[in-house]
Amino acid sequence: MRISVTGCGYLGAVHAASMAKLGHDVVGIDVNPRIIDNLTAGRAPFYEPGLPELLSESQATGRLKFSTDMSEVVGCQVHFVCVGTPQRRGENAADLRYVNEAFQSLFDRVGPGEILVGKSTVPVGTASRMAEELALRVPGAVIAWNPEFLREGHAVADTLTPDRFVYGVPAGDAGQLAANTLDEVYAAALESGTRRLVTDYATAELVKSAANSFLATKISFINAMAEVCEAAGADVTELAEAIGMDERIGRKFLNAGLGFGGGCLPKDIRAFMARAGELGADQALTFLREVDAINMRRRSRVVEMAREVCGGSLIGRRITVLGTAFKPDSDDVRDSPALNVAAQLQLLGADVTVTDPQALPNSALRFPELAYEPDMDEALKNAQAVLLLTEWRQYRELDPYALAARVSEKNMVDARNVFDPAKWRAAGWTYRSVGRP
Ligand code: UGA
Repeated sequence: MRISVTGCGYLGAVHAASMAKLGHDVVGIDVNPRIIDNLTAGRAPFYEPGLPELLSESQATGRLKFSTDMSEVVGCQVHFVCVGTPQRRGENAADLRYVNEAFQSLFDRVGPGEILVGKSTVPVGTASRMAEELALRVPGAVIAWNPEFLREGHAVADTLTPDRFVYGVPAGDAGQLAANTLDEVYAAALESGTRRLVTDYATAELVKSAANSFLATKISFINAMAEVCEAAGADVTELAEAIGMDERIGRKFLNAGLGFGGGCLPKDIRAFMARAGELGADQALTFLREVDAINMRRRSRVVEMAREVCGGSLIGRRITVLGTAFKPDSDDVRDSPALNVAAQLQLLGADVTVTDPQALPNSALRFPELAYEPDMDEALKNAQAVLLLTEWRQYRELDPYALAARVSEKNMVDARNVFDPAKWRAAGWTYRSVGRP
């Protein structure tokens, strides 16, 4: 099929390249010429494992191109919208500017029988609002809402082999046309057994908000348990193992630590609360305020732990932070808990050096005042405290004995609970982690 993808960020770039790999003819559009130049040259504009290989494989087939020119969408049968919906400044609600702009420019260019597919995370009600306008502008064209569930760091696999498809479509023949078209787009995954659900617009939009809210709640739940464990002298990691053995609960997303960040979970739970308020259902989601508060408290708690291992004062202390990305295998620092803690420590008077395998350039754009050191060994030299804030594999594998030779004082705050406390203490470290004795 001939497919356009508007918006080539973390979601759209991977979606465009994946659709080409599946055999479709794809044009990816973005207003940012730097992104388009990189993608055209086969370079991923951000760090995502497997994306460079996927890009060059798909480019080589001649089925994938990128452009800043929106008129390239003309003639495509399916138009995916993958633009961002960031949090509005000073508000909880989502900023729909880019979604509105993308649909408006598609409305000017699409024809009857073509399908416009929203993948961006939007407040419930957006799809039907767009559909009403489309019906007036281009009768015979159809909107579908097909939320995306990919995780950064696993984006390629999550796009090519997702665990489910959700199609939000209108009633009647138009809905049937949209569902059939999406089935054709995703034929390969459907043939290999991926489940698919066809719903109305509102349900499809809510599936995405609900899924991210559930994940955020699960993380904050275990972090709340970590607080109780700390007060009671219990071990949250063992607690998570034990409750996770109950299949109804499950072990995934029960890692206590510094909490969630990134471009999705924090802003999505806030936008969801804001939208529920507009709909008069705000009471239903007040618990998400608590989920958000527990999560933010983690950051202050880790700053406090750093102060404690530094002997009560951060002023002038040389602290090395391992990891600034919001999670491993990503260079994304949007609302990164790790970068937030590093910046707080610096503002509280510590002398902070940060290192990260991929996220330093993005981090430096946000907080230029921190010292950035790409070489981990250099970064650790003479440290008086080390904080593990993003659990990249190379940090998880650190050996306490080898590390002891590089630092000047053996203080470790393991904010992701990845090390074995007994081993680090045996090597002479003052070791602190989250919710563990
Ligand atoms: C999240 C969802 O997991 C995806 O399903 C969704 O498609 C995506 O948002 C989106 O809306 O686009 P992502 O933001 O890539 O994906 O990251 P996650 O893997 O969900 O991690 C989010 C944060 O939670 C990270 O900061 C991570 O460190 C933290 N986390 C995760 C924990 O603190 N504990 C855990 O047990 C798991």
